[in-house]
Amino acid sequence: MAASYVPDVCYKDQVNELLERLSIQFLEMVPIRKMKWKDEETAALVATPFLQQKVLQATVLHPICQHHPPALSYSTRFMKELIHKLEMLDAEICDEVYETYTELLSQAEDDDDTLCYKTYTLPTGGKVHLQESVTLVSQGTTGLSTWQAAQHLAEWVLENQDVFTDKHVIELGCGLGLTGIVTCHSCNVRSYTFTDCHREVLYLLAKNIEDNLAPPETLLQLSGSETITLRDKKMLQKIKHQLSLTTERTTDSSCIVSDYGLVEGLEDGENITSSGMASSLELEERQEGEENEILVNEENSLALGGAKLEVNSNYWELDNRQQTAVLKVDPRLRISNLDWEDLEQDMMENVQADVVLAADVVYDTSIIPYLVQLLRQLLQPSPTTDVNKKAFVASTVRNEDTRDAFLIALSSEGLSYGVVEGPKQTVFHYDRNVPIEILQITLQ
Ligand SMILES: C[S@@+](CC[C@H](N)C(=O)[O-])C[C@H]1O[C@@H](n2cnc3c(N)ncnc32)[C@H](O)[C@@H]1O
Repeated sequence: MAASYVPDVCYKDQVNELLERLSIQFLEMVPIRKMKWKDEETAALVATPFLQQKVLQATVLHPICQHHPPALSYSTRFMKELIHKLEMLDAEICDEVYETYTELLSQAEDDDDTLCYKTYTLPTGGKVHLQESVTLVSQGTTGLSTWQAAQHLAEWVLENQDVFTDKHVIELGCGLGLTGIVTCHSCNVRSYTFTDCHREVLYLLAKNIEDNLAPPETLLQLSGSETITLRDKKMLQKIKHQLSLTTERTTDSSCIVSDYGLVEGLEDGENITSSGMASSLELEERQEGEENEILVNEENSLALGGAKLEVNSNYWELDNRQQTAVLKVDPRLRISNLDWEDLEQDMMENVQADVVLAADVVYDTSIIPYLVQLLRQLLQPSPTTDVNKKAFVASTVRNEDTRDAFLIALSSEGLSYGVVEGPKQTVFHYDRNVPIEILQITLQ
């Protein structure tokens, strides 16, 4: 259908701002019912065919979706909601809207939709693309999705960049890397070590670091013409396959992590949010097939071969023990397989840290002692690092007892702590009603 209406200049600015807001939320895969496009003003946005096309270009047909697509089920639901809004407004619906919806539905038939990209927009307009699982807890880990505390801590980093200038930074339980990637994007760090203990998490983390922190042309130089190897393809296939096996909804709430045990009271098909708490709004959305299912199946954990760290050797230099990898195009960046419960002392001797970061790692009382011992060890003075070492640990407070257990463990290990002021600016879209606390921890 031909464009029939072009808004005047002033209205155009307003429309562009709304489209931009909608686009940012869509690319970040904000749950559709939580998107801020419900008021009259926004409803007016979709009232003309010209603007309907603009909405498509800002969302499902956005150029970013070609290389970093959100989950297909998410795009499909977005289109369904768009059509619903148009019908409610009694608006003339342009052909492109129906065509786009039909195209998405036909793709859905053969798409496994287990991994997707969430694109986070920074205040500078810069984008961080993270490959994530569509389920919050899968493969027996919580690390295949980005949690609210990571977004909160990343916002805090953006407002406290000087803390990281010229510092060696280490992150514990970094998951898919949002906090670290934002820190490396915005701060002039001396080095950044991303650590986690889960092989599939570390594999996707490496991909996310390559995608966001290594210029594509340098990766091409290192790999010849193919940026993705056969081994990469097999790894991704295996991860997707295992994730698709776990998309069978489970009523078995024998969750691996105690505070996520909140889900035990949920009915089959219900879910948790990235704060670990189910809101009625989200439960409603999930009944349509929510993207964030709680799926826990330790037995289905991948068998990916012997390596503790599975990375593309074209881009990463692995140490002899295959536990730490350094990014060839930027040796300040490294990944380590670091399990708090199974620390190898000779590996710890090589760790350099002036600042320690961690988001959403305080949820299981059984591993708190290991985590706190590690914090103590990392905060010890050393000849090669800063004298005033600090750790910043962001936690979603789901359970006061767990929080207290962490604070008691900190004190008994001789660590001081205090709550720091949270970020003032809203950058990412997460539930602000859920308490998230950032503790600054130092040696007494
Ligand atoms: C809730 S996720 C948080 C991930 C990420 N920081 C975020 O907020 O999005 C907890 C993370 O801690 C990691 N983790 C759990 N136990 C661990 C351990 N013993 N050693 C190292 N990492 C661990 C998990 O693999 C997972 O990535």
